[in-house]
Amino acid sequence: MTRLTDAGTRAYPWGMLLRVLILMFVCGPAMVLANDRLVRMHADAALTDSGLLKHILPRFTLKTQVRIEQVAREDAHVVLGTEGRPVFTGLQRTWKIDVRAPDHPGTAKLVDWLTGDVGQRTVASFAPDGTALFGPPEDTAPEVVEVSLDGDAEAGHKLSRTQCSRCHAVDEATRGWGIGSTPSFGILRALPDWEERFSAFYALNPHPAFTQIADVTPPFPIDRPSPIAPVELSLDDLEALMAYVASMPAADLGKPLDHQ
Ligand code: HEC
Repeated sequence: MTRLTDAGTRAYPWGMLLRVLILMFVCGPAMVLANDRLVRMHADAALTDSGLLKHILPRFTLKTQVRIEQVAREDAHVVLGTEGRPVFTGLQRTWKIDVRAPDHPGTAKLVDWLTGDVGQRTVASFAPDGTALFGPPEDTAPEVVEVSLDGDAEAGHKLSRTQCSRCHAVDEATRGWGIGSTPSFGILRALPDWEERFSAFYALNPHPAFTQIADVTPPFPIDRPSPIAPVELSLDDLEALMAYVASMPAADLGKPLDHQ
């Protein structure tokens, strides 16, 4: 008798735990999915009144199964208004998306869609009276500045060691460092247009995602922070880098392997 009760009380917590586990297993993913698939958005009244949202949001939902609920500004995962990343123009201004919940998978889908081809075409196809009211945002690609070659080459060498040698071999000593498939500075220096490439490197892939040049490049989009420790340079730094690269010997691309 005592043994039975004993066994009973001991078995009970396990049975309970099992049931809780099963419940979590069955309902957990569904609950997560439901939240992942609902984005709370706030938009300025002018935008809502224009009818654009009624035109684009159902199409977004159809494509992605993510629903959008319009809420007060303080409850929003995303705000369409004057701050954040430019997504379209219309009603005499640039509309931007401010992502306040960057880890929410639904908001990421919304930003991808809005800034991608399909979203941009959907925005442009909104033409209640036959004329499109909204169009793509102004070009936000970073401008490319003129850089002189009389910077401080020695400082440039140091900078390329600290900032670029994570991926590039930047001199003899760092040969074999960095990422194998990334061109070495010596090889790049040997290209006839090396000057153009270096002076605009921050606008050439893959650098824009992680590079900031003070007063030149726009800040990283808030929903796309730099995935790695960012490269941060001033214009003086860039001139120093250029001076260093100008001074370095170009790799002899024509040299046969057995001479090296
Ligand atoms: C996180 C890795 C990484 C860092 C850090 C990095 N680069 Fe690069 N860079 C690359 C890769 C990868 C390529 C090759 C891209 C390609 O071939 O499409 C490249 C290419 C280049 C090119 C040639 C671009 C072209 O399209 O012709 C230049 C110039 C350059 N990098 C300069 C720099 C300078 C200067 C720094 C430091 C201030 C730097 N990079 C830091 C990864 C990096």
